[in-house]
Amino acid sequence: DTLTRRRFCSGLAGLTGLAAGGFSRPAFAAPATLTAQKARVQLAPEGYPATDVWSYDGSLPGPMIRAPQGTRLERRLLNSLDVPTSVHWHGIRIDNAMDGVAGLTQKAVPPGEGFDYAFDLPDAGTYWYHAHTNSMEQVARGLSGPLIVDEAQAPDIDRDEVLMLGDWLLDPDTGRFAEPFDHPMSLSHGGRTGNLVGVNGRFDHGLTARQNDRLRLRLINSATARIFVLRLQGMTGWTVALDGMPLATPEPLGAELILAPAQRIDLIVDITAEEGTPAALAMAMQDDSWRALVEVAVTGRAATTPRPAPPALPPNPAMAPPDLSQARALDMVMEGGAMAGMEGATYQGERLDFRALIERGQFWALSGQAGMPESPFARLSRGEPVRMRLENRTAFAHAMHLHGMHFREVRADGSFGPMRDTILSIPDEPLEIAFTADNPGKWLFHCHMLAHAASGMTTWIEVA
Ligand code: C2O
Ligand code: CU
Repeated sequence: DTLTRRRFCSGLAGLTGLAAGGFSRPAFAAPATLTAQKARVQLAPEGYPATDVWSYDGSLPGPMIRAPQGTRLERRLLNSLDVPTSVHWHGIRIDNAMDGVAGLTQKAVPPGEGFDYAFDLPDAGTYWYHAHTNSMEQVARGLSGPLIVDEAQAPDIDRDEVLMLGDWLLDPDTGRFAEPFDHPMSLSHGGRTGNLVGVNGRFDHGLTARQNDRLRLRLINSATARIFVLRLQGMTGWTVALDGMPLATPEPLGAELILAPAQRIDLIVDITAEEGTPAALAMAMQDDSWRALVEVAVTGRAATTPRPAPPALPPNPAMAPPDLSQARALDMVMEGGAMAGMEGATYQGERLDFRALIERGQFWALSGQAGMPESPFARLSRGEPVRMRLENRTAFAHAMHLHGMHFREVRADGSFGPMRDTILSIPDEPLEIAFTADNPGKWLFHCHMLAHAASGMTTWIEVA
């Protein structure tokens, strides 16, 4: 009922004052297997029921997978769920056969069976892994975890903290996931947004630090729809990497950070707050107030003076911008959804009007195609530079993600933005991205608001 619901939500707003305990760094050694299995975890505050989730290795988020840059990662997925599944290693410039997309790069792994993932890690940075079979439901149920690739030479920091932001839509009375995962409201509007927000699977994840400590914060948005608007309190700092890829120059933090679904931001921050004064990573609420998402308890002082700005992280290989003079131009029109709709689109080879599409659960289309088309949106030759205009004719923002390769925004003045694998497209704001199609294979391009991906906004390109 609404009263309990209100209490549930406002219980979360009252985080200030909660004792933030010290959390030790998760162990580095991860098992050579990764088991997709059911688990029961306490997502909601104490006093509320626990939640039955789908997890990797029984925890939510899944175990931290961490390896040095340039090494090979091997994990055997064991499927102990009742449904088929597969794992996608988001943001890794990966061998196509290991990309984990059921129906495109592999067969979904049936219950009781396994799949051996093995691939090289060319780039250092903050990545993540998640289910890529019916991901709208499987990721929302908990199938995701952090994947960190370490630079040979770590930056000069006191601590490295992985903060996996997420949200869950729960029934406060039962602790169960509320509402069908394919609710038409989620499909046609902004996706499935949770009523409980948390970090690393906890609604009250906290940190301790001393004044003038320098932390690397690796923010990962694992939510299936929520765009986080974030602000730091009691800290100053720099953005040093986006979607795993280092910025050429660390960028001093502005007023707000925007973290769309699947995006990552690496920050290096200095704690400026004095002992006993508040420091936090805060998120904007719908009413424009701010709520602490991660409280930092400041205990003592590490040094008397802050350090100078950090140098850039070492660049990853293959970060040269694409040659636009030779680039193949592609146009992608995004249509559909509530409040905009569309005339019609092709779905499974058939041209349908909007009403008929909706009956099939398809609310969106990419360039006239709803859902995964038989043939690719574009066939590219290996090494070909590509520029792609994204025209958002919908009434919603979309977090567009390309598998297998990072891209750069081409700004209006022709300059390049930083390398990303997921970019937020805003209605009526023209957006252009460019990349060199240097990774052969079949690569998905889709909205990472996973309800949108499932209801039309998924296509693929082929690099041969
Ligand atoms: Cu992170 Cu196709 O997804
Ligand atoms: Cu979308």
